[in-house]
Amino acid sequence: MQLYVDSANLTEIRHAAAMGFISGVTTNPSLLAKEDPSLDIKSLLLDIHASVGGHTSVEVVSTDTDGMLREADEILTWFPEATIKIPFIPAGLAAVRNLANRGIPTNVTLLFTANQALIAANAGATYVSVFLGRLDDISTDGVQAVRDTAEIWDVHGLESQIIAASIRHPIHLLECAKAGAHIATTPYKVLMQSIKHPLTDAGLAAFLKDHEAMMAKKS
Ligand code: E4P
Repeated sequence: MQLYVDSANLTEIRHAAAMGFISGVTTNPSLLAKEDPSLDIKSLLLDIHASVGGHTSVEVVSTDTDGMLREADEILTWFPEATIKIPFIPAGLAAVRNLANRGIPTNVTLLFTANQALIAANAGATYVSVFLGRLDDISTDGVQAVRDTAEIWDVHGLESQIIAASIRHPIHLLECAKAGAHIATTPYKVLMQSIKHPLTDAGLAAFLKDHEAMMAKKS
């Protein structure tokens, strides 16, 4: 399972990218709205893309097909490798089909069931983003939606990549990897929580202390 960072914060994204295990970044309008309002969105997205050097999903905000396609074409003039993130609504599906026919990668967002993911895949989505945390928030098993999606993909050999999205904590990462998600787009905080282990820190402290003691004896 590949790891993307789900963020629009350049400091977080640059640090995540510098650690070497991130292969993409997903943004959305809410994440962009948390950043400094004086920042120019286009420049910010270009900096984000340059920082990761891999997959970068940029979401449209129109709710009609023509508007989504106009936005997609503008984003593609900023950087042609962009993946266009489209909400799962009927107008969005038509936009996904149009973009797929032109060979432009799409990430269909706001999916909450395997059926929705299946429909998005049939519309030509390159990526389908299943939001598990928001399902857990309303007392529904979010990991099960990812598991169901992955099972359907296995049965039918579908090609769209399954992104586990709306990740809230490290156990979500573990469960999504076991469930068969191809990618988990993960908040920076959860990436850092997943790196941290008290035994790793204690083990390193002991190794360094023993090394220093050995060097002291030698001198
Ligand atoms: C996915 O691409 C979305 O940006 C994201 O995972 C949404 O997560 P949230 O439920 O924490 O807002």
